[in-house]
Amino acid sequence: MKHLIKHMIITLGITLIVPALHAAEIESLRGANPLKENAKKPEPKKWQSDRPPIARDFVQQPPLIPHSTEGYIIDTKSNKCLSCHSWANYKEKGATKISLTHFTDRDGHDLANVSARRYFCTQCHVPQVDAKPLVENTFKPVKGIISR
Ligand code: HEC
Ligand code: HEC
Repeated sequence: MKHLIKHMIITLGITLIVPALHAAEIESLRGANPLKENAKKPEPKKWQSDRPPIARDFVQQPPLIPHSTEGYIIDTKSNKCLSCHSWANYKEKGATKISLTHFTDRDGHDLANVSARRYFCTQCHVPQVDAKPLVENTFKPVKGIISR
């Protein structure tokens, strides 16, 4: 009995100490760098406003958005993008109509309306800011679309 209690105490000790040791090893992503509370905040970049369409770099690329999308809501009740880009509205708004691919569901069935997988436009299409690339990129478009 005495032995058992001793054993239990040791086991309990280990269960409490081991996680505590582990916790001490955890480090934040910032590493040892302290938060600079008073550092100057970077100015947020401004979304680029209306400009001509931006050339694509590869055929399957979702075209980049050449206008600001600030305040454009896409939710279950409404989709601001479709108020200009749907087949019903594009002519009046002078926008590009969404392509046929946007009506195909994941099983390859053609639908009468935008497919759910293409409903949240900004999953693939992104507005632009005038920012320096973070890393150098030497990608060159394929010849087939270079003259666009
Ligand atoms: C007020 C109308 C309007 C709204 C709302 C709108 N757009 Fe546009 N969009 C345009 C017009 C106009 C163009 C430019 C067409 C041109 O000059 O060829 C354009 C261009 C684009 C293009 C470039 C097409 C290409 O072939 O290069 C994309 C992509 C796009 N919009 C996506 C979106 C998305 C995503 C949303 C919602 C977040 C949105 N747009 C909301 C009017 C609109
Ligand atoms: C899953 C990714 C994805 C989503 C979501 C998506 N698109 Fe696209 N979109 C693409 C790709 C890829 C292309 C280029 C190839 C093509 O036409 O399918 C494209 C092309 C376009 C074009 C150019 C069509 C043309 O004829 O040149 C417009 C405009 C557009 N999308 C608008 C939209 C709008 C508006 C929505 C939301 C209702 C949307 N897209 C949702 C991927 C997406």
